[in-house]
Amino acid sequence: MDLGLDGRVYVVTGGTKGLGRATADALVADGARVVVSSRSQESVDAALAALGDNARGLAADNADPATAERVAQLALDTWGRLDGALISVGGPPGTNPPNATDAQWREAFESVMLGAIRVARTIVSHLEDGGAVGLVLSTSVKQPVAGIEISSGLRPGLAMWAKHLADEIGPRGIRVFSLLPGRILTDRITSLTPDAEARARMSENIPLRRMGDPEEFGRVGAFLLSPAASYVTGVVVPVDGGALRSL
Ligand SMILES: NC(=O)c1ccc[n+]([C@@H]2O[C@H](COP(=O)([O-])OP(=O)(O)OC[C@H]3O[C@@H](n4cnc5c(N)ncnc54)[C@H](OP(=O)(O)O)[C@@H]3O)[C@@H](O)[C@H]2O)c1
Repeated sequence: MDLGLDGRVYVVTGGTKGLGRATADALVADGARVVVSSRSQESVDAALAALGDNARGLAADNADPATAERVAQLALDTWGRLDGALISVGGPPGTNPPNATDAQWREAFESVMLGAIRVARTIVSHLEDGGAVGLVLSTSVKQPVAGIEISSGLRPGLAMWAKHLADEIGPRGIRVFSLLPGRILTDRITSLTPDAEARARMSENIPLRRMGDPEEFGRVGAFLLSPAASYVTGVVVPVDGGALRSL
């Protein structure tokens, strides 16, 4: 199947590592061009070295109000077009209720929630018919994930905001979707659960009996951003090996 990505241009925030990077890799592999961003210039440089000529990047924090327009303008200045974005970001700190502090909630709100909303609405303002925006959220949209209470608190709201956004931008032919990773083996998972035996025990509750590879997530992200998914909007799509207990 031709995804129709050839020559298209996408922004991927949090795109230097993990799920964002895997999606940037899949987009570029299918002929798209990408702007990747994350906070560390070193990570941006490493990602650009690996992604090659069809990638540009900049160091930018999703919590910074200037980031959204900076990443959009880099894409437009470089290639003269913008077709969408995948919005990923670092995860909130690991705590169980009711232990997260006000400062942790505020910090996560700025980067995970308001940052995503700000990037999405800025990107959407530059899109035309056929454009698409994806939010990287979590299975916490549908059920609590032990140890990450802030994700359980913020991400259901973001998913419903994305659903609402779909109503508003659909008449312009622009799509929005949310991705719900379960356990995909990125740096975040190895830092939250460093012990390989503990990770193996967590996999026992996943129907496919293993954690996902980032590439398996990236391919789903690239497909949903692509014109091949042109009638898919307002949805939440789990990429979780069957782990969610609800439909
Ligand atoms: N992996 C999973 O199984 C899983 C499951 C559920 C939900 N999620 C969610 O999916 C998202 C991505 O997770 P991941 O596993 O890919 O994490 P990761 O491997 O830690 O990668 C996160 C990426 O985001 C960047 N980043 C972090 N904070 C940022 C910020 N404030 N602004 C811009 N970029 C930022 C990081 O680079 P810098 O350090 O250079 O900024 C890095 O490129 C997270 O929000 C996580 O909670 C992941």
